[in-house]
Amino acid sequence: MTRRFGGRRVLVTGGSRGIGADVAVAFAREGAAVAVNGRSRSDALEDVIRRCEEAGGHGIAAVGDVSDADEAVHVVRTAREQLGGLDVLVNNAGTLDESPLEEMPVEQWDAMVASDLRSVYLCTHEALPGMREQGWGRVVNVTSQLAVKGAPGMAHYSAAKAGVIGFTRSLAREVAAHGVLVNAVAPGPVDTDMTGDLDDEWKQQKTAELPLGRFARVEEITPSVLLLAASPDGDVYVGQTLHPNSGDVMP
Ligand SMILES: NC(=O)c1ccc[n+]([C@@H]2O[C@H](COP(=O)([O-])OP(=O)(O)OC[C@H]3O[C@@H](n4cnc5c(N)ncnc54)[C@H](O)[C@@H]3O)[C@@H](O)[C@H]2O)c1
Repeated sequence: MTRRFGGRRVLVTGGSRGIGADVAVAFAREGAAVAVNGRSRSDALEDVIRRCEEAGGHGIAAVGDVSDADEAVHVVRTAREQLGGLDVLVNNAGTLDESPLEEMPVEQWDAMVASDLRSVYLCTHEALPGMREQGWGRVVNVTSQLAVKGAPGMAHYSAAKAGVIGFTRSLAREVAAHGVLVNAVAPGPVDTDMTGDLDDEWKQQKTAELPLGRFARVEEITPSVLLLAASPDGDVYVGQTLHPNSGDVMP
């Protein structure tokens, strides 16, 4: 087995379940030391850390709400201090809910922008100086195909995720010359708890629209994240967004 991430130190936000959990364990399987972020020290978070260890890597918890400025700094510092530095940041944490815009209170808008866009700024802002100093770093932002396609009831989510793509492009131009590459992955529908919470009618309709005829599995998203964090495999991706999306959008 290739161990592309031997010696690398990785932080995955929102890593206690879904895409983030699979990404964390996959990094560990390839030799990385992984800080797994969750909002609290839950059984699910402990389980992902155990799976990282069993996979042959190393796992630690970095607990905190990454949409909160102080807690995001604490999360990144915990990762850096306990792992002895930070090479890869995967900004994966996110939430999803729906509401027609006219029924969407400003609190719901702000909460979405905080969890899905502000968190990306906060964690990257704290992680970046160390990466620049060591002359090597990778930031992979998990956005969504809805940033490109849009969907009724998801103006807040689509706006936040489109913001992540803009952030990715600008920051990539700013820091590539310092050895820090910033890219994004925009999954289509994936079978996780996030989509499990949506209603069955929506899921059936969504499935019918997909050229592939099915949602992706988390382990089909992970390789895109790992590619963008790997050297030399991912070294020419700068400010790009990969689209593992079952063919729903073809940007
Ligand atoms: N599932 C999909 O169909 C899909 C499609 C496109 C994009 N995405 C994106 O992929 C990422 C992961 O989604 P998922 O399907 O695995 O979702 P999920 O709900 O299963 O997992 C998301 C994790 O992030 C955590 N999280 C959310 N906000 C947080 C915060 N402020 N601080 C710390 N942790 C926080 C949650 O507690 C949860 O553990 C999200 O950014 C999501 O928007 C998912």
